[in-house]
Amino acid sequence: MYNNQKVLLSGIQPTGVMTIGNYIGAVKNWLTMPDDCLSIYFIADLHALTIKQDPTLFRQTALSFYAQYLAAGLDPKKSILYFQSHVPEHTQLQWAMNCFTYIGEAQRMTQFKDKSLKHADNINMGLMDYPVLMAADILLYNTDLVPVGVDQKQHLELTRDIALRFNNRFGDVFTVPEPYITKNGAKIFSLSDPLAKMSKSDVDPNAYVSVIEDADSIMRKFKRAVTDSGNEVVASENKPGITNLLNIYSEMTGKSIADAELEFEGRGYGVFKQAVGEAVVEKLRPMRENYNKLISDKAYLAEVAKDGAERARSIAFKTVRKVYKKLGLVPMS
Ligand code: TRP
Repeated sequence: MYNNQKVLLSGIQPTGVMTIGNYIGAVKNWLTMPDDCLSIYFIADLHALTIKQDPTLFRQTALSFYAQYLAAGLDPKKSILYFQSHVPEHTQLQWAMNCFTYIGEAQRMTQFKDKSLKHADNINMGLMDYPVLMAADILLYNTDLVPVGVDQKQHLELTRDIALRFNNRFGDVFTVPEPYITKNGAKIFSLSDPLAKMSKSDVDPNAYVSVIEDADSIMRKFKRAVTDSGNEVVASENKPGITNLLNIYSEMTGKSIADAELEFEGRGYGVFKQAVGEAVVEKLRPMRENYNKLISDKAYLAEVAKDGAERARSIAFKTVRKVYKKLGLVPMS
């Protein structure tokens, strides 16, 4: 809680592109967060450094993600929107949290093991410490709720363990966060392989659609989206491709799956795929237009980001001060 408001916090790594899967699964729900909640969203740029980045491209991508948050409709006055690297308290708290995390716990993290296999030539300390930075992100702001997908659930559990461990020794310092499971927002799968999650860093660009993609490219990707045998547009377990497209159509138009099935009864896959593409183009149009305006106004972006970081710091510095004091570090007068 902060100022009697529940705190909700989430971060996104600025790698690859923000896809319609991120939009449907996360961002769209954030837009409907109750007003009595303090929402904090940040670009997890320090997390992204655990994988080798090209500096020029990385800087562009991070700024682009920030502009996409704004373009999607997140309000920088209502929420706090900032870059993790602008708020040094994240790493200051991380150091303290490192001393309350066992190496065995970090090594057991599924994502650490997966990434170690995937990047065998770069198993750096940051990769293992990634979940501790995430714990610091969350604990800095007395966060109550963290919207997480399954892939991040284990990290949230570790965060809770660290918070409880610290609280057991030093009293009620940290709020122990809960996962926030959003009610709606279907999970979106790859357009090339409907059994795999749509990933923003898929090597196959036909697998995903970015929220700022141009209309022609969106249409092309939906036309070639992998579907299933048969020709009826119905959601079912043995039609993962069509089911995924129905979910996308339903999320983008607000129509129910049942209504969509009726609408395309007897009309075949081709007509349906075209309609899904058009629905996505229409829904994303305002976002793409906003984005194009924002990304060409670097001064505005810098100003909003600075304001976000300052507001974040005004909360974060108090947590670090309290934690350092509890630990017995001599305060600077
Ligand atoms: N690890 C998250 C991801 O890969 C991003 C993230 C970093 C995050 N810090 C966070 C998410 C804190 C929620 C809360 O998607």
